[in-house]
Amino acid sequence: MNNPYQPIPTKILDVIEETPNIRTFVLKPEKEIPFLAGQFVELTIPGFGEAPFTPSSSHFEREVLEMTIMRVGRATGALFTKKPGDLLGIRGPYGKPYPLKEFEGRDIYIVGGGVGLAPLRALFLALVHEINKYGRIFLRYGARTPKDIVYKKQLKEWEKIKKVDIDLSVDSADEPWERKVGVVTCLMDEIPCDVKKSVAVVCGPPIMMKFVTKKLLDAGFPGKSIYLSMEMNMSCGLGQCGHCRLGPYFTCKDGPVLTWEQIKDIEEPFL
Ligand SMILES: Cc1cc2nc3c(=O)[nH]c(=O)nc-3n(C[C@H](O)[C@H](O)[C@H](O)COP(=O)(O)OP(=O)(O)OC[C@H]3O[C@@H](n4cnc5c(N)ncnc54)[C@H](O)[C@@H]3O)c2cc1C
Ligand code: FES
Repeated sequence: MNNPYQPIPTKILDVIEETPNIRTFVLKPEKEIPFLAGQFVELTIPGFGEAPFTPSSSHFEREVLEMTIMRVGRATGALFTKKPGDLLGIRGPYGKPYPLKEFEGRDIYIVGGGVGLAPLRALFLALVHEINKYGRIFLRYGARTPKDIVYKKQLKEWEKIKKVDIDLSVDSADEPWERKVGVVTCLMDEIPCDVKKSVAVVCGPPIMMKFVTKKLLDAGFPGKSIYLSMEMNMSCGLGQCGHCRLGPYFTCKDGPVLTWEQIKDIEEPFL
């Protein structure tokens, strides 16, 4: 019988420096990981244990997958010592993907903060791959400073795609910066889509998720059309340990993406 905790050996092909504390790891698992945008995996760092991350690459290209990871503590610190050629492990995928069928024919308004653009990139690339199925795609992204922006080159390329509209902000600009200065909600004063018919997708730090959700609700988005990445503490990833409990949900199984309609009655869902 297969052991669900057994990771698949995975080689690091490349490490891309995105910002001073965020890197994209290009990974080649021995066996294809059948993930869909929005799902996550447990990444094993030998000798240090494992941690959950969401692939940031397109689910249409699964042979090699990418994960964009911020260094915050023990496991990510150990990961940042790894080089191309080193071995990691992956188990998963876990959780539910974005319900892309429900997004068809609608405008999609994506809001990301910091490294939160990583899971959103997997979604964005999946949408762009089949762009005729969807309406317009709006991407609003905020980072602390221009140096903290991930995917700098790709953002410039994405801006050229038909039906894609991108706007960026930084909290403060310590170098020449031609876009907006302010937290990401400063990009949301005008929402150029029909909010009653569109879908909003959000990922970022909890405080950003809280204020972005409020802005979306004030603008008239129905709670059932606001999709939020709830990246709670996770351990098993299999719905068994209870670490990731959020009200009646286990975010590893019922999420990590939940709608505002699902979580609106939970006290302080963004803690
Ligand atoms: C479903 C899911 C998907 C995720 N996807 C990604 C991803 O694509 N990219 C990514 O970089 N991270 C992602 N994360 C977060 C990632 O799992 C954690 O950053 C990681 O587990 C931290 O491990 P650590 O041992 O390095 O830090 P720890 O030693 O456990 O933590 C060190 C300190 O950092 C704080 N910390 C922990 N996580 C974060 C965080 N995310 N942001 C800020 N501070 C934090 C802790 O509170 C603690 O104070 C995801 C989490 C979940 C649940
Ligand atoms: S992480 Fe164990 S139940 Fe969700």
